[in-house]
Amino acid sequence: MSVQLGVLAACIVLFVPMGLAGWHLSRNKMLFFSCALFIMLAVGVHLTPYIPSISNFVSSIAAVKDRDSCISFLHDVIWDFKSSNLRDEIISWGWGESEQVASCEFQKLGRYDASDLLNGSWVVVAGDSHARLIVLSLLNLVLDLEAMDSVKSDLFKRHSDYQIMIDGIGMKLDFIWAPYVRNLTDLFLRFKKERVCPNVLVMGSGLWHMLHVTDASDYGDSVRLLKNSILSFLPVSPELGNDGPIRSPHLFWLGMPVLINAILNTEEKREKMTDKMLAAYEREIYDCKLLRQSGGPFLLLDIHSLSQKCGPRCTDDGMHYYAVVYEAAVQQCALDSGEVYKPDDSESSALTPSTSLRSTKIEVRSFDL
Ligand SMILES: *[C@@H]1O[C@H](CO)[C@@H](O)[C@H](O)[C@H]1NC(C)=O
Ligand SMILES: *[C@@H]1O[C@H](CO)[C@@H](O)[C@H](O)[C@H]1NC(C)=O
Repeated sequence: MSVQLGVLAACIVLFVPMGLAGWHLSRNKMLFFSCALFIMLAVGVHLTPYIPSISNFVSSIAAVKDRDSCISFLHDVIWDFKSSNLRDEIISWGWGESEQVASCEFQKLGRYDASDLLNGSWVVVAGDSHARLIVLSLLNLVLDLEAMDSVKSDLFKRHSDYQIMIDGIGMKLDFIWAPYVRNLTDLFLRFKKERVCPNVLVMGSGLWHMLHVTDASDYGDSVRLLKNSILSFLPVSPELGNDGPIRSPHLFWLGMPVLINAILNTEEKREKMTDKMLAAYEREIYDCKLLRQSGGPFLLLDIHSLSQKCGPRCTDDGMHYYAVVYEAAVQQCALDSGEVYKPDDSESSALTPSTSLRSTKIEVRSFDL
């Protein structure tokens, strides 16, 4: 094959310039044409063997695209309500069963997978009371019930930070109480100054600002500031790590939940935290291009859509939802940071009831908000 091509090339290099000579071109021009032809043909012949790898390259691009489209289906969750003989309903969730979602083969992580995934990592969750609930669900994924009991009492001290080291898997988790987006920016500046960088960073604030400042454009300003400070921090420069270059963290933005105004528990909340205000706050997040779908750094944990689909049956105060909602968000967070879409064997789990959380309600006395 390549011999034939070579002969063909030689003929072209020889005869085309000779033909051109018939058009009374100068010797220099002829030389130029034959050189140019020779180079083009040589490049062509040498590239041929690589064509299969070019097609591999194209298909790997297609795989990347697949992965992105799977991420967009991560939030495609359906809820299932079963009444039990206890007073509570049993609420469970699973991924939708449409063909596209099924092709992503999402699976819930069990304790073993989660421990494996989070082994040796440093996770920082910063934000308001919703971020606390995320911490609870995340820990629930890696700790047993007994350990969870002591976590709950420590974690839900009002307006405080929380830190836990899980020795078994060498995982460190920090919760930073950051009611305002400005506090999140401060946290980033602190990381930058101390030259440290967590592996997973989950952030989200908004409701506190909505209640105490109630000004969407001011909120937008602070979000813009946060975004700029993050972009100046990323990509993490190689000298940051102690042992070689470190990867930039997985960044997640904790979206705001749907607020059910009628059952918010104070008059002030019902007055200020309206649907209209919530929409204005959420618009700022999109306008600031904070999220990956608009080219920003954060992947959205879509608490809005999760809480909306779960509905009024999944909340007591119209603002903080039952653990199962955050559990769904945490699973998505873990799936994305581990990029585990196709764990090997175990059977598919559309709508397996949540076995890890015995009770779908969390008994917490004091929320920050
Ligand atoms: C965590 O990783 C270490 C070494 O990388 C390994 O020895 C250990 O077994 C892992 N633990 C779990 C629970 O996966
Ligand atoms: C959060 O930011 C506000 C305003 O910038 C500040 O007053 C407050 O002390 C900060 N809170 C924490 C916990 O850092």
